[in-house]
Amino acid sequence: MAEALHIDKSLPKAARYSALLPQLKALVADEPNTIANMANISAALRETFGFLWVGFYVVHGAELVLGPFQGPIACTRIAYGKGVCGAAWANKEILVVPDVDKFPGHIACSSFSKSEIVVPVFRDGDVIALLDVDSESLHTFDKTDSDYLEKIAAML
Ligand code: SME
Repeated sequence: MAEALHIDKSLPKAARYSALLPQLKALVADEPNTIANMANISAALRETFGFLWVGFYVVHGAELVLGPFQGPIACTRIAYGKGVCGAAWANKEILVVPDVDKFPGHIACSSFSKSEIVVPVFRDGDVIALLDVDSESLHTFDKTDSDYLEKIAAML
């Protein structure tokens, strides 16, 4: 296992994701434990981009429970369909929220969060978890993020 990430943080976003992808693949390749891989993916994304919060909510019955994350403490449970995470789970789709104050039902775990992206993690066609990334700036996330984060979620 690699001991450190090697990513030039002066690179533009797409180039950073493209440098990160093979390193993450190598990191998760030999580890079958999903929690361990979620933990390293959260740490790697936060280290590479400096996002406010990166982490996973894991499906447990009719709600989501907080999983591995990096960043400030967060809400522990989210009901099906609630907030950005619950909506992404119910719709089985990636949600990009440029301004969280304009998303009806957004759950504010941190008042510093201004924009957000939530990416479902699928197993056998079912959503088993959500990858949630929060930014302190408005309009942080775009198609580059959704394309690469989808690939990263598929590694689990
Ligand atoms: N904002 C999310 C809740 C999780 S925190 O951002 C970590 C939501 O509305 O689902």
